[in-house]
Amino acid sequence: MKLERIKHGFNFVAPYYDLFSYLLFQGRLLHAQTHYFDRIGKVDSILIFGGGTGKILPPLFKTIEFNSLTYIDISGNMLKKARRNCEAYESDHVTKIEFIEGSTEVLNKNQQFNLIITPFVLDCFSDENLLKVITKLDEHLEPGGTWLFTDFNEDQDFGIISDMRSAFIKSLYFVFNLFCPLGITKLPRFGGAFSQLNYSTVAQTQMLHGLVVGRVYQKLASPDREYQ
Ligand SMILES: C[S@@+](CC[C@H](N)C(=O)[O-])C[C@H]1O[C@@H](n2cnc3c(N)ncnc32)[C@H](O)[C@@H]1O
Repeated sequence: MKLERIKHGFNFVAPYYDLFSYLLFQGRLLHAQTHYFDRIGKVDSILIFGGGTGKILPPLFKTIEFNSLTYIDISGNMLKKARRNCEAYESDHVTKIEFIEGSTEVLNKNQQFNLIITPFVLDCFSDENLLKVITKLDEHLEPGGTWLFTDFNEDQDFGIISDMRSAFIKSLYFVFNLFCPLGITKLPRFGGAFSQLNYSTVAQTQMLHGLVVGRVYQKLASPDREYQ
């Protein structure tokens, strides 16, 4: 099954993932995914989906107050590293975190969060699967809740920078698919998928010359769509 192969792929890359990411981006991807932490303040419950090796946890501990954090990743090896990263930082937080191996299916039916964070994970899905995954995650976000989205970005604009971005993203997928059979070669249309849910974009920023985008989505309390 495809998910099993993806899981094995990420298990295989887990020991090298941070080094690979550092060599390519020198910590800028971490900076991007924590960019909006300051504006969160205090929340009751957080879901981090596809958190990887847990580099995101220390900056989160520093800036966001929370009572419980559910940390889901499909890769057991990524989770082991995340747990270690967390324990090395401060043991107080460990008791508030539940690390769960799996994907959206591990979420309990009635589990609700105030904040969902998806850092560089939604790029692992095809357009069709992306919509399924975010629809499922959306069921677990309280109305009025916040969704911090960070991922690679491929605008439809033209020009040399845009061409270079597309070529770079293609090569990233090429390398990734060698170890981790995602079965996709281009970014899904994130904006199109989120526009099918009931969210408003309250902040957005582009980093690394537009290669990366961070967005703060807020789940609208009423089922009415907000047209902007
Ligand atoms: C590209 S890595 C990003 C890791 C981390 N967020 C970061 O920015 O360094 C994608 C992460 O999502 C996890 N992942 C991929 N597909 C998943 C799925 N269907 N369900 C849960 N986690 C998944 C992988 O195991 C991996 O840890």
